[in-house]
Amino acid sequence: MVSRVIPVEPFDLVIFGASGDLARRKIWPALWQRWQAGQIPPESRVIGAARAEQGPAEFRDWVRAALPAAAEGTEAFLARVDYVALDARGSAGWAALAGAVRRDVVQAYYFSVAPDLFGALAERLHAHGIAGPDARIVVEKPFGHDLQTARALNATLARHFEERQIYRIDHYLGKETVQNLMAVRFANILFEPLWNARYVDHVQITVAETVGVGGRGAYYDGSGALRDMVQNHMMQLLCLIAMEPPYHFDPDAVRDEKLKVIRALDPVRPSDIVRGQYRAGPEGPDYRSDAGNRRSVTESFVALKCGISNWRWKGTPFYLRTGKRLRARASEIAITFRDPPHFIFDDAPGWRGNVLSIRLQPNEGMNLSVMIKEPGPGGMRLVQVPLDMSFAEALGAEGTDMPDAYERLIMDVMRGNQTLFMRGDEVEAAWAWIDPILAAATDAPAPYDQGSAGPDEALALLHRDGRRWRAIAP
Ligand code: BG6
Repeated sequence: MVSRVIPVEPFDLVIFGASGDLARRKIWPALWQRWQAGQIPPESRVIGAARAEQGPAEFRDWVRAALPAAAEGTEAFLARVDYVALDARGSAGWAALAGAVRRDVVQAYYFSVAPDLFGALAERLHAHGIAGPDARIVVEKPFGHDLQTARALNATLARHFEERQIYRIDHYLGKETVQNLMAVRFANILFEPLWNARYVDHVQITVAETVGVGGRGAYYDGSGALRDMVQNHMMQLLCLIAMEPPYHFDPDAVRDEKLKVIRALDPVRPSDIVRGQYRAGPEGPDYRSDAGNRRSVTESFVALKCGISNWRWKGTPFYLRTGKRLRARASEIAITFRDPPHFIFDDAPGWRGNVLSIRLQPNEGMNLSVMIKEPGPGGMRLVQVPLDMSFAEALGAEGTDMPDAYERLIMDVMRGNQTLFMRGDEVEAAWAWIDPILAAATDAPAPYDQGSAGPDEALALLHRDGRRWRAIAP
């Protein structure tokens, strides 16, 4: 299979916070990868903007060091990189930026800075006549701390930009397998008739990480797993699983359907949520030391059960689980189907329902477990086997060489395609759902061992419903 690279229109991309951590780890490498792939037209430019006084040559040296490897093409890429020193809250540098940005190419402004600077940047881009009527702005999470702050942030951006110009990144939406959820559901007839409470017993969504929060403890401690992962990434996964088929694969059609799911989510009862904090262990100190806060009650793990009150899903619980310092880095969505209405075989010791599991990372792929007859003459014994499809195997080199989410998302900004970006109302609806959960989450989280599957209390969340979590395995 040969991947088609369709170049985007020439652009000028300004990155505010151009030498920050996100820019170094994600944005610059993603741009370089797309450059190497031939997707960025050579007349495009990337203008770094930050506070440090330095010249373009010095900045290019910094960018070079952030790139994954020296390669042919790197110097040509760097030749398209420029730098402007500016003061986000003052007036220094803005005239220079106005002089640097072209008006006859796609304009995009990446706000890779703390959200409290969004307003100042948006205002100055307009005051200095820099942003054209079709300019795009890209913003990162955290998009608000709760509903009130998210609304304020949306209102700040809306003063200077229309919704069609605002690209709110949730990098999970740029992951190959996450998009594949939509392809699997809406390009196959096989699953959709079964995709409802009549046939689906329950859904599990797990995003397990082995990393702790050391290094970003101050940010994380003010946030926690509910804000850091559930309000955004896990909510997006849940939406893609639960939404109705959009009438077309069109940004607003998709986002309208996701919004309806969020609005139909039941409030989570306090007895349906378990929060945890990791203990000290072989991989490092305990959460509170990593967070630099001995009295912290912020959760590094959360598991919860929620329901969706609509015709499709009423009666099917969705169990969500995410945490740091768990047994393995493994993200998966598993849809467990109900038992057949009547069982005709006598001997079914190994009977387990059909499970469709979609593996997001690592080892992207899908697996459908089915019951078959155990081979051999020994009677009609049943055994569960996987129908396994590893994307790497099925798609060859392309399956192993999946682009980083940021590569796709940044190119989508240049194409003007908002399908994989969160709309303002979606973000607010997600906060409206999670705010009461946060308000109730004041007790000390349950401790759990590093390398485990989280606190025992999380196991009980499913046990009491006669179910069990799937193993967290690499
Ligand atoms: C980020 C969170 O948004 O996503 C991190 O802030 C988390 O805490 C990360 O580790 C997970 O992303 P990925 O792509 O590694 O699964």
